[in-house]
Amino acid sequence: MNSTRSNIVILTGAGVSAESGVATFRGAGGLWEGHLIEDVASPEGFARDPALVQKFYNLRRAALRTVEPNAAHRAIARLQREYQRGRVTLVTQNVDDLHERSGSPQVIHVHGELLKIRCTRCHAVHHWTEDITPNLACASCQTAGRLRPDIVWFGEMPYHMDAIYDELAAAQVFIAIGTSGKVYPAAGFVIEAARCGARTIECNLEPSDVSSVFDEHRIGPAGVIAPALVDQLLRV
Ligand code: APR
Repeated sequence: MNSTRSNIVILTGAGVSAESGVATFRGAGGLWEGHLIEDVASPEGFARDPALVQKFYNLRRAALRTVEPNAAHRAIARLQREYQRGRVTLVTQNVDDLHERSGSPQVIHVHGELLKIRCTRCHAVHHWTEDITPNLACASCQTAGRLRPDIVWFGEMPYHMDAIYDELAAAQVFIAIGTSGKVYPAAGFVIEAARCGARTIECNLEPSDVSSVFDEHRIGPAGVIAPALVDQLLRV
């Protein structure tokens, strides 16, 4: 790495929050906290059993109060604040708020956020830290019973794709941390970044499904690998 101008895009996944005690998606025999992913993360699953899905996300939202950012979140936030040679754009697939709580000044949530709820009638999105109850009314249109988590489920359109592809095209360095590379379009960001000329670095406990596309691999826990990489990027 030399000292010329160099924009960085970081993509994070569930592995970055694992050391904070947030369950990854594919860590327990394909189950997410005991559920098939398609039962709790698809519009069809929600239509089949809305109470189950609301309860599932209510528990995930409440669990955020019991976890704290770890060394990987803090290192990424430090890089965003201290890096002088270009932009550091953080894109996360995670729906938790640990990047924000560790001090990241900018976070793009490509799969939505647990602390936001969306009205399926008027489409307004509001910050929300409590349970979604059956009669909860939308703060914008006052309609009761039409709120859902503002989470991107399978089959739905991920958020902020135009902005992300602009940043990938302008990046000289692309770093993926703690993601299995199984879910597109995020899994394909490395391909786009490489096509546009970025140097690509994967940081994960194990090689991901798109590992072969990366120029460089750092295998290990995010809480160790990310701070070391950030130290190196800030030193140059
Ligand atoms: N440090 C680094 N990597 C880790 C750690 C850790 N401490 N713990 C686990 N990992 C790695 C795993 O080896 C795995 O490759 O993190 C990856 C997590 O993979 P997934 O559980 O598949 O999570 P992610 O890639 O974020 O999932 C993508 O899938 O279900 C959807 O919308 C959901 O955003 C999610 C998307």
